[in-house]
Amino acid sequence: MVGAGQLARMGWQAAISLDLGLICLGSTGDAAARAGAPLLEGSGRDAAAVAELAARCDVLTFEHELVDLAMLRGLQARGVPVRPSADVLALAVDKLHQRRTLSEITGVDVPAFAPVSEPSDIQTFAERHGWPLVLKARSGGYDGRGVWMCADAEEAMVALAESRAAGLELYVEQAVEIVAELAVLVARSPSGRLAVYPAVETFQVDGMCRWVVMPGRFGDRVAARAVELAGTLAERVGLEGLMAIELFLAPGERLLVNELALRTHNTGHLHTEASDTSQFEQHLRAVLDLPLGTTTPRTPAAAMVNVVGPPDGSDPASRLADALAVPGACVHLYGKAARPGRKLGHVTVCAATPEAALESAREAADRLERHE
Ligand SMILES: Nc1ncnc2c1ncn2[C@@H]1O[C@H](COP(=O)(O)OP(=O)(O)OP(=O)(O)O)[C@@H](O)[C@H]1O
Ligand SMILES: [Mg+2]
Repeated sequence: MVGAGQLARMGWQAAISLDLGLICLGSTGDAAARAGAPLLEGSGRDAAAVAELAARCDVLTFEHELVDLAMLRGLQARGVPVRPSADVLALAVDKLHQRRTLSEITGVDVPAFAPVSEPSDIQTFAERHGWPLVLKARSGGYDGRGVWMCADAEEAMVALAESRAAGLELYVEQAVEIVAELAVLVARSPSGRLAVYPAVETFQVDGMCRWVVMPGRFGDRVAARAVELAGTLAERVGLEGLMAIELFLAPGERLLVNELALRTHNTGHLHTEASDTSQFEQHLRAVLDLPLGTTTPRTPAAAMVNVVGPPDGSDPASRLADALAVPGACVHLYGKAARPGRKLGHVTVCAATPEAALESAREAADRLERHE
């Protein structure tokens, strides 16, 4: 697995159960390495390191998209199973390429978008679609970094200058009137087996996912459409592995695809306790072409709340006992150095209703973050 962060760490947990020999490519301080996952030191962008990893493995897979596609294509040409393939990963590497590809698939709706190479491109787009609009980095963004919601031309020029200083290429898209945000996870194996998880509702604060509930408030019809869309997309892109699809629900039950992630995803953490198969195990099953696990919920409702480093810089792990005193709280800590605003863990609770699950998961996460 290219990457050794918290997603690889939870992948390692799943690999232990199945006694699979997972090797992570990353650094000794990374979350998976700190949990004892076998580590090959190096970067996913370093051709020699990735080639060495491939030589030691039957299958190459990923926990992030910071990869060199040309190098992966070279490995594929030499017969290395790269899952998902370089062509599929390309969708996550360049979000403008992703938007274009999705917009060409019949039945898939995306926000209106356009490439930005100069300031006048933003103005032209605004004349057509109005303000506010959203500027996004084509690559390298996460947790809302690389997303600028701009109310007017002045804000857009500030964002443009900021992104240029950071060396980022941009595209512009319409600001969607969001009724709810959803996410769906889908696994597809090389032999074409498909498994889709139920849609969850996600809640973002400042662009970062803060909590997730299942079922969402959007109703069965929207949920069913999201699941069907996930299956269609997995087939259409030729997925081998696991993919998360973030969706916007807009007025009139319009479902738009926000983005695809070609890996395990924050919005799928609750399936570890709430479904028969965790996303981490499903990812391994899919890339190894093993039978996929069932995705049926085991509980009427579940909620997951992220644990984020508090402003005082203190470590939530020091308050573990307080959180564990919350009945039903399943606490996951990633063993990462505490920094304000950094995702350091999550809490999942299964309950009879989404409200009850969210209340308990929040209580435990608040205790870790030491909110009163
Ligand atoms: N076109 C849009 N209209 C309205 N809100 C948007 C739009 N695009 C993004 N957002 C808001 O910003 C959040 C982050 O956007 P997006 O998922 O594209 O960025 P990201 O930083 O790559 O996130 P992630 O960490 O999920 O990869 C969204 O969840 C949504 O709340
Ligand atoms: Mg997102």
